[in-house]
Amino acid sequence: MCGIMGYVGEREAAAVLIDGLRALEYRGYDSVGIAVLDDAGEMAIHKRAGKLNAFAAEVAAREASGRQGIGHTRWATHGAPSDINAHPHTDCSGKVVVIHNGIVENFVELKQSLRAEGHNFQSDTDTEVIPHLIEHYLGEGASIDAAVRETITRISGAHAILAMTLAEPGVIIAARIGNAGGVVIGYGHGENYLASDLPAILPHTRRVVFLEDGEVARVARGAVTFSRDGRTVDKVPQDVPYDPVSAAKGSYKHFMQKEIAEQPEAILDTLRGRALFSESRVSLEDIGLDADQLRQIRRVLLVGMGTSLHGAMIGRYFMEQIARIPAEAENASEWRYRDSIIGPETLVVSVSQSGETVDTLAAMEEARLKGCPQVTICNVVGGQATRIADGVVYTRCGLEIGVASTKTYVAAITAVYLLACYLGQERGLIDRERMAGLLQPLAQLPFQTGEVMKRNGEYERLAQEFFRCNNFLFLGRGIQYPVAMEGALKLKEVSYIHAEGYAAGEMKHGPIALIDRDMPVIALAPRDQLRDKMLSNIQQVKAREGTVVALATAGDQEIAETADHIVWLPEATPLLNPVLTSLPLQAFAYHVAVRRGCDVDQPRNLAKTVTVE
Ligand code: AGP
Repeated sequence: MCGIMGYVGEREAAAVLIDGLRALEYRGYDSVGIAVLDDAGEMAIHKRAGKLNAFAAEVAAREASGRQGIGHTRWATHGAPSDINAHPHTDCSGKVVVIHNGIVENFVELKQSLRAEGHNFQSDTDTEVIPHLIEHYLGEGASIDAAVRETITRISGAHAILAMTLAEPGVIIAARIGNAGGVVIGYGHGENYLASDLPAILPHTRRVVFLEDGEVARVARGAVTFSRDGRTVDKVPQDVPYDPVSAAKGSYKHFMQKEIAEQPEAILDTLRGRALFSESRVSLEDIGLDADQLRQIRRVLLVGMGTSLHGAMIGRYFMEQIARIPAEAENASEWRYRDSIIGPETLVVSVSQSGETVDTLAAMEEARLKGCPQVTICNVVGGQATRIADGVVYTRCGLEIGVASTKTYVAAITAVYLLACYLGQERGLIDRERMAGLLQPLAQLPFQTGEVMKRNGEYERLAQEFFRCNNFLFLGRGIQYPVAMEGALKLKEVSYIHAEGYAAGEMKHGPIALIDRDMPVIALAPRDQLRDKMLSNIQQVKAREGTVVALATAGDQEIAETADHIVWLPEATPLLNPVLTSLPLQAFAYHVAVRRGCDVDQPRNLAKTVTVE
């Protein structure tokens, strides 16, 4: 899940590459590197461990010159995040340079056989076999296109690769195999761009082509051609929208802080034109399934990973309680290997802000092979998930830069709610009166989230009280159980504090042994049918001298008097309470992380888009 960037044109490539990598750093930031080819045919490679800023200053000082280049920001899989393991990697002669996203699963045996041919390796990476394989085929007289084509038949796994060689200046070759993150090619005037994702390209051009599995692109200054297995493929560039304002941090200290604050708007934008309040109807423009297909659905399977899995788990309640369709939510990385008994009667709903998460994509491929209709909930326009699924409900959040998902999660919950309403409507289960009752609370949601955010000072004070704790327990029941898991995940991700999210009913079966004064318990107890059970859980924690922070609906004095700290929430329909309970947990995690001096937007070891297993 590294970021890759390429440029060939009239401008200084190094500056273009560094700007592009800045937009891709969410994919990894263990090391960074560029290779630039100058007009005299000299290749300059600069690379080092660490983040982009220091690297950029170093490269600027060296004045790397040349109008063609490739660059990489790395999330380490094989080999430590060191200078030597940073990309680009080269062949023995230094004439072939490669950057790569993916894992060469058979790199050990390839290294052995290449070593036997006399190739020497510098790094511990799996990637380094790729330039050496290309060198091998060039040595047999192949063109760079043919050498890359042969190379990708030798390497196992899923990959996105960019390669250049001194033997053919002016050309960058790109290849995509499987779902290791995308390659998108941007068309400029007398210049062309390549990147793993749109944010790196959209400041320059909106005319793009996405490389599909198995395709190879030959990108020169004035021409781009495509092939598959050596045969030409025709591809037509498409125009994609871009809002540059959403990419800027503005007056906020961190993107996470900004993105938390943007949630009322993200919800509103996700609802716009879809929740038709005056007509008591839901309209989903890109659902991709006809009336017959919708009627035949007997079951819904929601899949996702991490925060998106928690959104999927919440969506399960919507599917059952709104659309009255049996539903399950599964971890995509587990489900994909289960050979689950599933077919055309099951609607698969994948949740993925990036649309590029490898396990989610693999689960979707598995579902496609089994004939399931599919809808994806995605934030990135044109993400790979949107190309696998029959239909898409985009969350309209703009770019989310912070590695910890916040606004895209809340918008995904909103989108799945809309999808459940739509399914009920199209299957004739929800009449106008019931739909009015389902939509009305949605209309209030942006305002209510705004109200919750106004209490930011309280969340900051709680963070001040608890930021030195080393363990937290988050408890929730029913639809609040996934929120408890998400609260714990957010805290772990950005503050590196150990936190567990538990179904509160499970507490007595083990976790209660952990309760003491040093482990705060965050109890999600908004007003719903399980609120009394949560009150019991809170009392049980208090009886063991635990410290409780309770999230409760305004006016619930009994909870306030039992817990040590109270976070008030507006009165809402229980199905939409997860949006309101999630916000203080995000803000709490953010403030704790800031107090602990953590890198909030780029937490250690993480990457925004996970394109490796
Ligand atoms: C969220 O804070 C995490 N960064 C992570 O769990 C994320 O939700 C997960 O990797 C799934 O990503 P996706 O939504 O792009 O598929």
